[in-house]
Amino acid sequence: MVLLRSLVAPSAVLLGVPSLAAAGATELQSVLRNTHGSNDYGYPTDFTRGIMPIPVHSHNDYWRDIPFYTALSKGCISTEADVWLYNSTLYVGHDESSLTEDRTLEALYINPILDVLKRQNPTSRFVTSPTNNGVFDTATSQTLYFFIDVKTSGPETFQAVIEALQPLREKGYLTTLRNNDTVIPAPITVIGTGNTPLDMVGPVADRDYFWDAPLHALQESKYADIDGLISPIASTNFEAVVGPLRGEMSEDQRGFLREQIQVAGERGIGARYWGTPYWPIRVRDSVWRVLVEEEVLLLNADDLDAVGRVF
Ligand SMILES: *[C@@H]1O[C@H](CO)[C@@H](O)[C@H](O)[C@H]1NC(C)=O
Ligand SMILES: *[C@@H]1O[C@H](CO)[C@@H](O)[C@H](O)[C@H]1NC(C)=O
Repeated sequence: MVLLRSLVAPSAVLLGVPSLAAAGATELQSVLRNTHGSNDYGYPTDFTRGIMPIPVHSHNDYWRDIPFYTALSKGCISTEADVWLYNSTLYVGHDESSLTEDRTLEALYINPILDVLKRQNPTSRFVTSPTNNGVFDTATSQTLYFFIDVKTSGPETFQAVIEALQPLREKGYLTTLRNNDTVIPAPITVIGTGNTPLDMVGPVADRDYFWDAPLHALQESKYADIDGLISPIASTNFEAVVGPLRGEMSEDQRGFLREQIQVAGERGIGARYWGTPYWPIRVRDSVWRVLVEEEVLLLNADDLDAVGRVF
């Protein structure tokens, strides 16, 4: 008996205690996941907690089922919607055959953005003055660039876009230009691209939308007036600037980019390149790294996980 007990006792120490600890750990895990849903462990603006913003433009958003939320979850500070106007409704999709009744600008972007910003700007007795936090809980002053790529006729479609922004405007969520000289930053900065007419943006002294200028053509006389108040960001096709790329960029190619980025920068305009190579992966990643080193404002990316790893 004694011998048996002495054999059993140590094994209880070795096996019994860890299994008790395991039971405790399960409860701990459930507290860590806050499976109890306790109010002690959540806070009003935690919807985007832990997401670190990255200077990435989520391109080809229509590849994703839930475009705005996917881009947000990866920390992209820029997102894009291709819009088509039919019978007074703005639909979102990359071509006409991809459009459906349900995929509207309002459903896929305006309402989700309103919802996130409402969560980030709660009212409670602790909040004593109005807040205007952006979508990122970790960087509340970071604006989200919202490119609206107008696909149907510019004047009618962009007018409908201006009207569709009204719910965001009413809440004070849109970055605004006042008296043609002062930008008042806000959680969302709308930039018209595609068929957006310059003459619906540039001459307007009080507005809450901006224009995506052609980065490669800023030195042309017709764009001489364009500065950061009209175009906080200008974009161009990467391949059209450097040509097709099979390996590393040459010093000359890098020089072209540097000059464009500098010309834009001197006018208060940030640079964005689309059409960067996505294959081979080594080339794709090295282009991203060069663009970050040359201080573009936004990297364009389809593969949000891959670009996230560059940072
Ligand atoms: C627009 O309205 C017209 C007239 O009601 C209708 O014939 C047409 O199918 C509509 N088009 C779309 C894309 O909704
Ligand atoms: C606002 O400034 C832009 C850029 O200089 C200019 O083209 C436009 O005419 C100005 N608008 C007004 C109303 O003064």
